[in-house]
Amino acid sequence: MAVRTKKHTHRKNGGAGRISLTINGQPYEMEVGTSPHQIDPAHTLAHTLRETLGLTGTKVSCDHGACGSCTVLMDGKAILSCMTLTVECDGKSIATVEGLGDPETGELDPLQQAFVDRTAFQCGFCTPGMIMSAKALLSENPSPTEEEVKQGLSGNFCRCISNYHVVKAVLAASGKKR
Ligand code: FES
Ligand code: FES
Repeated sequence: MAVRTKKHTHRKNGGAGRISLTINGQPYEMEVGTSPHQIDPAHTLAHTLRETLGLTGTKVSCDHGACGSCTVLMDGKAILSCMTLTVECDGKSIATVEGLGDPETGELDPLQQAFVDRTAFQCGFCTPGMIMSAKALLSENPSPTEEEVKQGLSGNFCRCISNYHVVKAVLAASGKKR
């Protein structure tokens, strides 16, 4: 069973059959196994986030590593949560779209606000993945060029063709209004 712990107690997934990870700043300790209350070794991080922890902000579209909808951050790097097993996340820090806003005030992250201000979405299904990829990009390169933004988001696909607005939103959030 996935439980939120008060204290982060990292243990390697070995004989204990447990993993510890941090999600949006909250430590979790999880039992690994095939019982219904445990984290199945075959479960992807996307599955655990959505189905076990109820963090449905992370979307699953292709479920095969091709669309970027399921992008989250692992130790600050963008990863595809549909292609990452939860047991591989032992000791890692995961950030999802739910963790971007200010928990005290509820204020959106400036990147989220830029998406809202520029209506950089239509159905919104790809948006959490776009935002998390952009977050990783801006943390590595705070002032990207338009080409670098396009390159950084090249693994994120949008069926609604909101990409032009997305590029503008990311540039605006980086302080580079175009
Ligand atoms: S749902 Fe993970 S890449 Fe498409
Ligand atoms: S806004 Fe609909 S898939 Fe991107």
